[in-house]
Amino acid sequence: MDFHLDTLSNLPNVTVFTAYQKEELEEVYQSLAWGYFGNLSDVSNQDFQKIWGRTKNDTISSSDLTASSRLLIVRCGKGKTAIWLAQQTGCEVVGVDMSEVCIANAIAQAQNHPSLRLSFHQAEATSLPFPDGWFTHVLCQGTLAKIPETELALGEIHRVLQERGTFMFDEMVTPGSALSEVVATQVDRQEELTSTWSPDDWREKLAQLSFLVLEAEDLSEIVKQNGKVLSQMQQLDRSEQSYLDRKIWEAIDSGKVEWWFYKCQKVTNWLSWICDTSNTEELRLKYDIWASAYEADVEKHWRFMTENAALTLEKVLPVKEAFILDAGAGTGLVGEALAKRGYTNIVAADLSEEMLASARNKQVYKVLHQCNLEDPQAFDSLETFDAIIAAGMFAYAHAGVGVLQNLFRFLKPGGLFVATMRSDYYKEMERALFELPWSLIAQSEFKIYENEVMYILVFRK
Ligand SMILES: C[S@@+](CC[C@H](N)C(=O)[O-])C[C@H]1O[C@@H](n2cnc3c(N)ncnc32)[C@H](O)[C@@H]1O
Repeated sequence: MDFHLDTLSNLPNVTVFTAYQKEELEEVYQSLAWGYFGNLSDVSNQDFQKIWGRTKNDTISSSDLTASSRLLIVRCGKGKTAIWLAQQTGCEVVGVDMSEVCIANAIAQAQNHPSLRLSFHQAEATSLPFPDGWFTHVLCQGTLAKIPETELALGEIHRVLQERGTFMFDEMVTPGSALSEVVATQVDRQEELTSTWSPDDWREKLAQLSFLVLEAEDLSEIVKQNGKVLSQMQQLDRSEQSYLDRKIWEAIDSGKVEWWFYKCQKVTNWLSWICDTSNTEELRLKYDIWASAYEADVEKHWRFMTENAALTLEKVLPVKEAFILDAGAGTGLVGEALAKRGYTNIVAADLSEEMLASARNKQVYKVLHQCNLEDPQAFDSLETFDAIIAAGMFAYAHAGVGVLQNLFRFLKPGGLFVATMRSDYYKEMERALFELPWSLIAQSEFKIYENEVMYILVFRK
C-alpha cells in the first residue's frame, strides 16, 4: 500500500468542518484506520471522501479481488465497503454483522444495486453460517480486537476461507505484551477493545492457524494524523463514541497502542504450496514469507530428517573441525543438529535472507551467505569444502542439476556430499548424480509425509 504522510504542523481551523453532518461523521469513524490525508494544511470538506476513495483503491490493488472472487466482510456495518467493492471488482460480496439494525440497513442499500452480487446476514464472527472453504477472501476493518473471543473468530475465518485464500485486516495492537492499566481504562471502556496483542502475538496467533503473513504494515502514523484532524471535528460531537475514539487516538499518539494492517494467506498444505512455484525468484520470496512460521510448520513431518542428515554425516566424517557447507540451510536446523554433535566450522548458504536471519540467531554458523547456488560464482574459490550437506533442497521447484554440478565443484577432492531426496525426485536426478566423478558410499531410506520414501545419499568425490 502506498500511504502518504505529511507534517502535522499545520492543523486546519476547526470551522472548516462545520458542514459535517452526524452521518458523515459516522462514515469517517468507520474509515479511520484506512484514511489518510494528502496535505493537512489544505484539508477541506471533500477530503474525507477523497481519503476514503484512495484507501479503498489501495485495498483493491493489494487484495487481488477479481470478478470470480467471493469475499466475506466480517462486521460489515451498513455495507458501504461491501457495495463499493462489489461495484469495483464485480466479485460476490457477503457481509455479516451482529447488529440487526446494520444488516437491515445494508440490505436496504443493496436493493439500490440489483445488478451486484451482494448479500448480508446477521451473524457473529465467532459462528459464521458458511461451509468450510467457501470464500476466496475475508476482510475485517478494525474489528477483530473488539470481538470478545478473537481467537474463536480467527478460527472461524480460517475455516470459511479456501486453501490459499486471502485474509486482510487492520487492527489495533499493543507494542508491549499487555496493555498497561492506564491505557486499558482509556481504550477499553464499554468493552471496546478485548484482545490486547502485540505485533509478535499477532504473528504467532496467525502462524498457529497456518496463516502466512504476506504483508504487515504499521499504520499508526496514518491513524495518528487522522485522529488529530478528527479530534478537531469532534469538538462538535460530544457523544460517547467520539470520547472513546479520542482516547484511542491519544493512546496511539503516545505510542502505547499501534494500528497495523495485515494481509495473510491460508496455507495448510505447505508442501504443495512451496512446490507450486515457477521460478527461483518466486521461491526466494515464498521462503522469505514462510521464514517465521517454517519451523513450526515442518516440526512434525520434516524436522527429524534434518537430525538424520546430520547423523549420517557424522558417521562418515568424524573430524569435528571439518569445513562444512550447509547448502540450502534455511533456518539452520541442520547447522543446529551438527553443532550439537560438536561440529564447529559450518557455513550456511541459502536463497532467502529471512530464512538466513533465523539461522543467524542460532549462532552455529561461522559465515552465512545469501546466494543462489545455481550461480557458479556463488563462492570465490572451487574445491573449498570438506563436506556439503543439503537437506530438503533437492526437491521439485527447488535445486536441480545446475546446483548439483556447482556443489560438486565446491567440494574438495575426497570430500563428502550428503543430500536428502524424495524417491520420485531421485529418479529425475539419478542420471546427473551418477554422471559426476564421485561414488555413492551410503544410502538410507525413511518414510515421510503420508507414505513416501525419502533417501539420504552419501557420495565421496
Ligand atoms: C525445504 S528448505 C530446507 C531448509 C533446511 N535445510 C531444513 O532442512 O530445514 C529448502 C531451502 O533451500 C533453499 N534453496 C532452494 N533453492 C536454492 C538455491 N538455488 N540456492 C540456494 N538456496 C536454495 C531455500 O531457500 C530453502 O531455505
